[in-house]
Amino acid sequence: MTTTEMTTTAPLRPPLFQGGLPFIGALPWMRRDALGLLLAAKEQGDVVQINFGVRKITLLASPTAVERALVTNVKNYVKQTRGYAVMRKLLGNGLVTSEGNFWLRQRRIAAPAFHREKIAGFAVTMQRCTDDMLARWGQTHLQGGAFDVDKEMMSLTMRIAGLTLLSTDVDENTSDVGAALTELVERQVFQRVTLPFELPMSVPTPMNRRFTKARHTLDDIILGIIRTRRAGASRPDLLSMLMDATDEETGESMSDRQLRDEVMTLFLAGHETTASSLGFTLWLLSEHPEIEAQVRQEIQQVCGEQGDVDVGSVMRMPYLDAVFSEAMRVLPPVPLLARRCNDGDVVDGFAIPPQSLVFLSPYVTHRLARWWKNPARFDPTRFLEGGEAHQEGRPKYAYFPFAGGPRKCIGDVFARLEQKVCMARMLQRVRFTSLPEPKVEPMLAVSIRARHGIPMTVARSQTASPA
Ligand code: HEM
Repeated sequence: MTTTEMTTTAPLRPPLFQGGLPFIGALPWMRRDALGLLLAAKEQGDVVQINFGVRKITLLASPTAVERALVTNVKNYVKQTRGYAVMRKLLGNGLVTSEGNFWLRQRRIAAPAFHREKIAGFAVTMQRCTDDMLARWGQTHLQGGAFDVDKEMMSLTMRIAGLTLLSTDVDENTSDVGAALTELVERQVFQRVTLPFELPMSVPTPMNRRFTKARHTLDDIILGIIRTRRAGASRPDLLSMLMDATDEETGESMSDRQLRDEVMTLFLAGHETTASSLGFTLWLLSEHPEIEAQVRQEIQQVCGEQGDVDVGSVMRMPYLDAVFSEAMRVLPPVPLLARRCNDGDVVDGFAIPPQSLVFLSPYVTHRLARWWKNPARFDPTRFLEGGEAHQEGRPKYAYFPFAGGPRKCIGDVFARLEQKVCMARMLQRVRFTSLPEPKVEPMLAVSIRARHGIPMTVARSQTASPA
């Protein structure tokens, strides 16, 4: 507690969100439309308690509250929540799920693999995978007809993750890794988090059986790759970087089991989030033709009609960069983070009870009218030099798509490179048109997803042909 807090009067209980049902509170609303519920709650306060029947959860929406939980009092806000328990079953003790000294050691070992100069080498793979996808579209989607852009972006980023992480081609449709990952990540994780209760894994329900089978498939494949790699030559991928890395302080490196957990973690954390941002950004651009025209012009100026899209060229695309920053403001790929407040706290003058759960939501905080003019508007100029996002005196945590503090996303540089390389390459070669039906409806899954997909048609750019 800070000195100022100690001298003020007793902290207040946060206001209770008015809008749920008797007894079960806002639980059905959360299942039906979590994003809508969070926005409605924010209208009743920046720190507000939501009743979910068996428990109350406090939404911390103000930038100061977010900073308190992620940075200044971070040790008091732990990942002992239902969602993380489910993820631990899948990911083991990787960077996303572990805590305390174990996490710190893993983070120190992994950090060098994510430095900007190490990641830069992956741009070639990102472009090649995008080219392969466009070439495939030449036989399918470019012949006309609607398709789901969200699904395509999932396959694209999954393949990029497979190649950059393991030097393994992971095609969702043709590889066992892809199919098992899709089963676990897309079909099971969120479903399990939102179940009212979960039967132990030892009970052979169809869902548990599918989970165990998919997990064994992944374990066998990933551990197999790790063992072969130990016996053979190093490859230019993240796995080799993680295998070679040692803790600066202790000199230790990772065991096979830890490597397996980290590889699974990076697959999960890395591919779905980036795919979500690519899909929604394509949709936002197609809904804002004047912004799309400006992006195309920038890409054209930097790369021409056929030039490669590499690290150097995307660094010369400030407008494209601002487009992604703004798209992640409006539709942050990770719209909700949950934490347990261990010892209780005082946040913005409100008391947070010990052992209670809190929500931090980029989706909500990025819409606070106090910090964002006309927050519903998609306007990339906010993030250009001199735009409102860079104005002096603004609180840092009015914007946190990659979280912040010690648990900030380790893959942010990777993600931003992947977003720009893939998008610039696509827009260099094709044009997308969104369709009125089914309506694009963002919803909370593990990442933000479109409930009925993102239907679009695609055509060749007038000036260029796909790879
Ligand atoms: C646009 C894409 C991405 C977004 C918006 C994003 C966002 C986030 C957020 C909000 C967290 C914090 C989660 C929490 O504390 O509860 C996180 C953590 C993490 N992310 Fe990302 N992420 C993205 C891409 C990636 C990529 C590409 C990778 C890896 C290649 C990655 C790896 C991780 C890892 C390992 C963590 C855990 C870090 C730690 O706690 O030490 N992410 N990410």
